[in-house]
Amino acid sequence: MVFIFAMESEPLIAAFRAAGQAQVFAHWPSLSATQRANLLAQAAEIDLPELARLNAALVVGAGTATSVNLAGLTPAPCIQLPTAGGDAQAWAQAAAIGTAALRQGRVAAFTVAGGQGTRLGYPGPKGTFPVTPVKQKTLFQLFAEKIKAAGLRAGRPLHWFIMTSQANHEETEQFFLTNKYFGLDVSRVHFFRQGRLPAVDFNGKLLLETPASLALSPDGHGGSLRALHRSGALDLMEAEGIDTISYFQVDNPLVRCLDAAFIGFHLSARAEMSSKMVRKAYAEEKVGHFCQQAGQVVVIEYSDMPLAMQRELEIDGTLRFGAGSIAIHLIDREFARRLAAGGPGVALPFHRADKKIATIDARGQPLQLSKANGVKFELFVFDALPFARNSVVIETARADDFSPVKNAEGLDSPQSSRDDQLRQYARWLQSVGVVMATDPTGLPKISIEISPLFGDDAASFAERWRALPVKPAIVDGLYLA
Ligand code: UD1
Repeated sequence: MVFIFAMESEPLIAAFRAAGQAQVFAHWPSLSATQRANLLAQAAEIDLPELARLNAALVVGAGTATSVNLAGLTPAPCIQLPTAGGDAQAWAQAAAIGTAALRQGRVAAFTVAGGQGTRLGYPGPKGTFPVTPVKQKTLFQLFAEKIKAAGLRAGRPLHWFIMTSQANHEETEQFFLTNKYFGLDVSRVHFFRQGRLPAVDFNGKLLLETPASLALSPDGHGGSLRALHRSGALDLMEAEGIDTISYFQVDNPLVRCLDAAFIGFHLSARAEMSSKMVRKAYAEEKVGHFCQQAGQVVVIEYSDMPLAMQRELEIDGTLRFGAGSIAIHLIDREFARRLAAGGPGVALPFHRADKKIATIDARGQPLQLSKANGVKFELFVFDALPFARNSVVIETARADDFSPVKNAEGLDSPQSSRDDQLRQYARWLQSVGVVMATDPTGLPKISIEISPLFGDDAASFAERWRALPVKPAIVDGLYLA
């Protein structure tokens, strides 16, 4: 093994030297045979021509930032909720179409869980973070139960694909194993790793994390399309008769993992990629914006849209660019395949993020960092939208679909998300006539929890509740399962 690497090291090292990246092998003479093999294996992962293009476009070239085209942006057309003036009959029809597709097993759930959860300050995979008010169920358990509930309704267990990263893959798989897959059929839960990209300094030079390893980081949730393809997940879907991928992020306990009406609207429009939106809560809310540009749906990230534009108002006083992205999409399987294959005109653009990147000094010692020292590259899944032959954006009620856990405290934190779960349970109980004391925001005074296996939306909850021969007392700590 070592002999083979030793034979192959010369051309690889020469290629790095020719590309102006000789520093990658600066510590080569002092490395052991195993360390050399490790470094060579990582170096072989690097696409040097792609790196040169990225450096030219985003780091050392004329444009040193992701250039987002803001020309001619208008708000994207959206299918409104019946409560906001939408057509109730169209929603009922869509729900029927989506339900039929679920029954046929055409839809799989897909969670992107490769992120590093830096803002939350939680060391483990984010999906293992406890979020529910009474039982402290983890995000993964909650999704597992929602997917199980959807499968029971569909009359067949549904598939769930989970994208991990190099850093959290083993821990994630182990977590499911330890928890017996939360009662799901093991053969229907599929894990695969997302790809990695190298980090560079501000001169475009590849950074070393240790003398024997490169600084590599996940390629962003947009890497999910390539990873779905590379891992064989798309082929598996095809073999199983799955043509629609229900994509959601790991950070959102309220998400409706497999939403029949959404699926119905997407399929009826023969869309290749569709999205859910909520009305932005306030102008500066940190979400992407659904816009239209040259007839295509695009998402403009909060960091890319000037504040003045984010604050623009319509005549009726509502935000002009008020359609916020909650990162829930439906993706056609063959569309994912087409994008993963890339080729002229169908490649996702890379984004630049300046970060503190763990690296070493010339003597091989870890550098102490007080500010960003380099650049990471990322792909965003919503950049696929403009390539879709058709794309639908539907409105959803924030209270029933979106309350992410992103920060340790304050907005989008475990506390705010827990409160939103409690408000949802209180609404469901009130809708069946239970009297519950709440504050003016709808937050109940006591802590309660409803398992997705009891009910995972107002309708399924009400049906199950009505069937209970004896209704439980509504007390602190009540858990309905
Ligand atoms: C994201 C969206 C934003 C949207 C908001 C809704 C981006 C750039 N922005 O913001 O438009 O309004 O969510 O909550 O995405 N992930 C991976 N691999 C990676 C990176 C991320 O799997 O390499 C996953 C994470 O595990 C997480 C999700 O992608 O599930 C979101 O990533 P994050 O970087 O936290 O996005 P936000 O900035 O919160």
